[in-house]
Amino acid sequence: MNEPYEVPERVRAGSPNSITSANDWRREYQRSADDPDGFWLEQTRKLVRWQDAPTAGLSGDYHGVKAGPFSWFGDGRLNVTVTCLDQHLAARADKTALLWEGDEPGDVRRLSYRELHAEVGRCANVLRSLGVRRGERVIIYMGMVPEAAVAMLACARIGAVHSVVFGGFSAEALRDRVRDCGAGVVITQDEGLRGGRSIPLKATTDEALDGEHGVEKVLVLRRTGKDVGWVQGRDVWWHDAMADAGPECAPEIVDAEHPLFILYTSGSTGRPKGLLHTCGGYLTYAAYTHRTVFDLREDDVYACVADVGWITGHSYIVYGPLANGATSFMFESTPVYPDAGRYWDMVQRHRFTIFYTAPTAIRALAAQGDDFVTRYDRSSVRVLGTVGEPINPAAWEWYHRVVGEGRCTIVDTWWQTETGGICISPIAPATAPKPGSATLPMPGIFPQLIDPDTGREVRGPGQGHLCLTQPWPGQARTVFGDHDRFVATYFSTYEGRYFTGDGCRRDADGYYWITGRVDDVINVSGHRMGTAEFESALVADEAVGEAAVVGFPHDIKGTGVWAYVVLQAGETWSEAMQQRLQRQVRTSIGAHARVDVLQPVPGLPKTRSGKVMRRILRKVAEGQPEALGDTSTLADPSVVEAIVAGAAVLKRC
Ligand code: WTA
Repeated sequence: MNEPYEVPERVRAGSPNSITSANDWRREYQRSADDPDGFWLEQTRKLVRWQDAPTAGLSGDYHGVKAGPFSWFGDGRLNVTVTCLDQHLAARADKTALLWEGDEPGDVRRLSYRELHAEVGRCANVLRSLGVRRGERVIIYMGMVPEAAVAMLACARIGAVHSVVFGGFSAEALRDRVRDCGAGVVITQDEGLRGGRSIPLKATTDEALDGEHGVEKVLVLRRTGKDVGWVQGRDVWWHDAMADAGPECAPEIVDAEHPLFILYTSGSTGRPKGLLHTCGGYLTYAAYTHRTVFDLREDDVYACVADVGWITGHSYIVYGPLANGATSFMFESTPVYPDAGRYWDMVQRHRFTIFYTAPTAIRALAAQGDDFVTRYDRSSVRVLGTVGEPINPAAWEWYHRVVGEGRCTIVDTWWQTETGGICISPIAPATAPKPGSATLPMPGIFPQLIDPDTGREVRGPGQGHLCLTQPWPGQARTVFGDHDRFVATYFSTYEGRYFTGDGCRRDADGYYWITGRVDDVINVSGHRMGTAEFESALVADEAVGEAAVVGFPHDIKGTGVWAYVVLQAGETWSEAMQQRLQRQVRTSIGAHARVDVLQPVPGLPKTRSGKVMRRILRKVAEGQPEALGDTSTLADPSVVEAIVAGAAVLKRC
């Protein structure tokens, strides 16, 4: 397993990348270490169209972060949409910028750079007419339609700050986000479509905004034509407003550190945090990593099948690819609609050259058999990518051998909402991959493994908590409205370093192997969730006294959700109760959140000081009750016996 695969000749040949060999990587990496400011200033001047090009690189460091955010390119001024759109009008006006396929196979739309530029201009004028001003927040709660990207870019055009909320989130979750960021406008659609099912986005928006007075306007795209509720004076049809708006909208020029977007993500405690990304650094990093990792070429048809509701959609469907003038694919449906051949059918029809998905999809599709793949022509594909969770070597091998026919290279890209872009990953033409390893850091990224017991750095091969020691341009600058939380979450565990929350191993070749989260965040089917969010949903039910949620290894989802529930006295466990609790989780988080195992327990294992020993609960969920370790500090050890016995019964069912 430790032997690297070679990069196929077909991947290396003709690469325009500045890094096409292990030596190139070493040289560029060293340069980024010796002269980070010089390195990033050079990259940004190449990749970003600045109004006033910056002369300064980094200001501040991880020690100074307590005082306020560090910054990049401080004296630069720009509008990111000039890089993503206007600059391409000279040479790529008719090139397809967004290639979209709807829920039904073959329902295809193409927007050229010229068309996208005009749509964004129109939408920007619409937002202005709705009263949105520079710096104000706009929530985008949509499905995967081209207009979601148009809306994001339109916000950026006028210097407004978008916050995309994944269309699977519930009304409660949407309301929390609207409130937290103080949005004045919400953009949504009548319904979403996914896998033949409709998603009531407008109805959910109405429910979320019921009684909320901060939101003055709701812009509604018609997608399915379904009748929807209408609030006079607040709701505006997208098509009506766009028909009245002109396509020209001068870009609002802002400082490099002007906020571009807020994206909420789950942490180990409390409510989701709104991570704030800023214009100049984020765009530079998204463009640089997109171009470098995937080895982007002018005639590529690049397909990332993520959702714009997550960071992958922001950086690698919208901002990175468009900054680079690529043809970027947007996909409304699911990998299994109408059957498990959907991705490969689209590869054949659209001739994708780069394809980027999540391990959970790869595992689910591999389980359906090779026929769904091999009946389609995949000869166009050169690079295959994965993101979101560790990929197990068996799934990696299947992706490589069956999907890629051994002719493609695989980039297992490790990064986070907080990092803005890919941090540890093979570079397609340069890095010999090993199945299951994210391999090597990108230039500008300096990983360190820390032994959690001693707090000391692990040198050479070894395992520890993954930290990054130096700021890079794409990094989130703060948690919106709560800088103290930003500092406490990321910079306090290990002084002077950014703590990722992931565990990691480094092998003798210096390759990194991410082992998964070491905090109470779980990656379920590539969706990042906090166990605390599940727990607060469960205890919201009056029958529930206490709940503790942990992750456990799941063949397809990567991590499954196991909930231990302590009922109030007098309540009894039943099928109906389980359904009610599942509904409660759906209501408070969203349709993508589901508990896999609900186990009633007489109590939670607690220390004498009342702290829940989650380690024990994790071991039981992992099916290793024999490895519980020392339970002598428990207030009531008999609870553990009951939990183990109950789990054994559940496993047998
Ligand atoms: C996990 C997604 C292993 C990791 C871009 C991280 C990965 C979390 C990988 C961030 C990978 C992401 N290998 N683990 N290639 N990519 N992760 O914020 O635990 O949704 O901390 O960003 O996903 O999830 P997020």
